[in-house]
Amino acid sequence: FPKKYILVFTGLCVLQEISADLRSVSPGEIITLHCSISTDYEISWFHQNSEQQMKLLVSAARGKLDKSFSYSFNINTDHYDISEISSSVSLVIKGVNDTDLGLYYCGGRNYSSLLQFRKPIRLTFNSGKSIYFNTTALKKVGLLL
Ligand SMILES: *[C@@H]1O[C@H](CO)[C@@H](O)[C@H](O)[C@H]1NC(C)=O
Ligand SMILES: *[C@@H]1O[C@H](CO)[C@@H](O)[C@H](O)[C@H]1NC(C)=O
Ligand SMILES: *[C@@H]1O[C@H](CO)[C@@H](O)[C@H](O)[C@H]1NC(C)=O
Repeated sequence: FPKKYILVFTGLCVLQEISADLRSVSPGEIITLHCSISTDYEISWFHQNSEQQMKLLVSAARGKLDKSFSYSFNINTDHYDISEISSSVSLVIKGVNDTDLGLYYCGGRNYSSLLQFRKPIRLTFNSGKSIYFNTTALKKVGLLL
């Protein structure tokens, strides 16, 4: 095992033990997840849900000359997008569904360093909004005054 991979792996295990930032959304929403890491070189976004292993969604590398990010999507671009904010890259998810729930990690590195991770974001559904009561219908059948 190359040393580099062991370091990345143990880093992720430590992150899973610490708390994640909670983000509650409604199904179908368009959401933006912000990355707290800025970099001169590369930002990568990873997703982990309960069934699957860590999956690389997108990585963005900054050109040495023009200083703009170029992206390599590992996933469906109808569903995901990116937005660039200062020296970081936010992940946009269009039409959130249940396969999108779980943990999101962004990692950043500069030219000579290993990928660094901070606190992950845990995406959950906003359960308070998932049950819809039609009060007009309930009044009609006498369940609500
Ligand atoms: C959720 O979105 C993904 C990505 O677009 C898609 O592959 C999947 O079929 C969707 N699942 C549901 C339940 O809509
Ligand atoms: C990369 O270097 C910049 C300064 O040039 C610094 O602000 C940033 O935090 C560094 N990012 C990482 C991931 O090391
Ligand atoms: C609520 O129920 C009433 C009566 O059954 C119906 O006319 C109305 O269209 C319903 N509203 C919605 C938003 O479903």
